[in-house]
Amino acid sequence: METEIVYAEEENSSEAITKAVRLLSDGDVVALPTETVYGLGASALDEEAVAKVFEAKGRPSFDPLIIHLSTREQIHDYCDLSPGLNDVVQKLIQAFWPGPLTMVLPKKDIVPDIVTSGLATVAVRMSAHPVMQEVCKALGTPIAAPSANRFGRISPTSAGAVFKELDGKIPLIVDGGACNSGLESTIIRVEEGEGKALLHLLRAGPVVKEDLQEYGKVVRPKKLSERAMRAKEERAEGGGSPVVEAPGMLDSHYAPSIPLYFHDKPEDFTPEEGKRYALLSYRGQVRDGYMDLYDWDVVEELSPGKGKLAEASVRLFHLLRMLDESGVDAIVAEPVAETGLGVAINDRLRRASVNH
Ligand code: TXA
Ligand code: MG
Repeated sequence: METEIVYAEEENSSEAITKAVRLLSDGDVVALPTETVYGLGASALDEEAVAKVFEAKGRPSFDPLIIHLSTREQIHDYCDLSPGLNDVVQKLIQAFWPGPLTMVLPKKDIVPDIVTSGLATVAVRMSAHPVMQEVCKALGTPIAAPSANRFGRISPTSAGAVFKELDGKIPLIVDGGACNSGLESTIIRVEEGEGKALLHLLRAGPVVKEDLQEYGKVVRPKKLSERAMRAKEERAEGGGSPVVEAPGMLDSHYAPSIPLYFHDKPEDFTPEEGKRYALLSYRGQVRDGYMDLYDWDVVEELSPGKGKLAEASVRLFHLLRMLDESGVDAIVAEPVAETGLGVAINDRLRRASVNH
């Protein structure tokens, strides 16, 4: 299959949008820009089309997809919200939609099982990217879209990165420029709670804990031990309900093809003789403890000189891809401050690493 790239510039996006909508209506998949990362979309109500998303990515069927809505009101068509839950959800929608917040909520029957991997909940979000919004609107159904990378690999933040991941596997990539947020959406499971709503933080992202706290108690789900995971999986194989609460939370993800090491302290890094290493530094400053630690073959800086977490977020996946292709044997990544957006950045680095 030949993979076409069409440009969707601000004044000149109608041709690209028409092309994308035609393919999606015909049951095909299309890569689309969002403000976080590029998504590989299919009409969420078309089971065969959704199956093609799993196939193109090589994604296991137990890992559910996010559906992207074109209006805030559509949430009532796809989610089954009790009045109490709806109160909280509406406040979150007012504050964060359109934008990089995904909510996991009880689903309505209309959402096919293939989208949710058989779970009773569905993950919904409304993207702030005009191209994703317009395609959703013109299509008339939500778009189920995971990040447009092969399973387990680095999420793409440009059309070129999508091409490298999925060339030959999908018919169309809509190029809407580089993603201006750069990290996948924050995911919360919203629960009514007593007095205060409970916001279970399933994936840290651009909407940070500090922003969410105003709307409920932010809780981190306990990580399942390997043994508990296996027990749950065995139960599921025996016909029980499918496995994990946020499957993407547990696996190794966002991985370059060469090893990445992520240590809390610079002293923990012990280089192997004869190996060539690249450093992914935060600010490129010696006083952070890594720049002078080794004779690095390559150094890239997430936020040169300044240490701005927003800038680091936008550049993270792009630089990981660059270092992956730079010809070294392994990458060492410096941790960033564990506050605000830094929580999501460290989370992605930890899960990309071979020593986490
Ligand atoms: O920013 C984003 O969220 C991007 C763009 C394209 O929208 N999408 C994205 O999708 O990152 P994906 O599939 O790569 O990650 C979605 C995560 C997965 O870890 C999945 O397990 C989790 O959301 N998820 C989806 N539905 C869920 C559900 N019902 N309950 C719990 N977790 C769910
Ligand atoms: Mg992903």
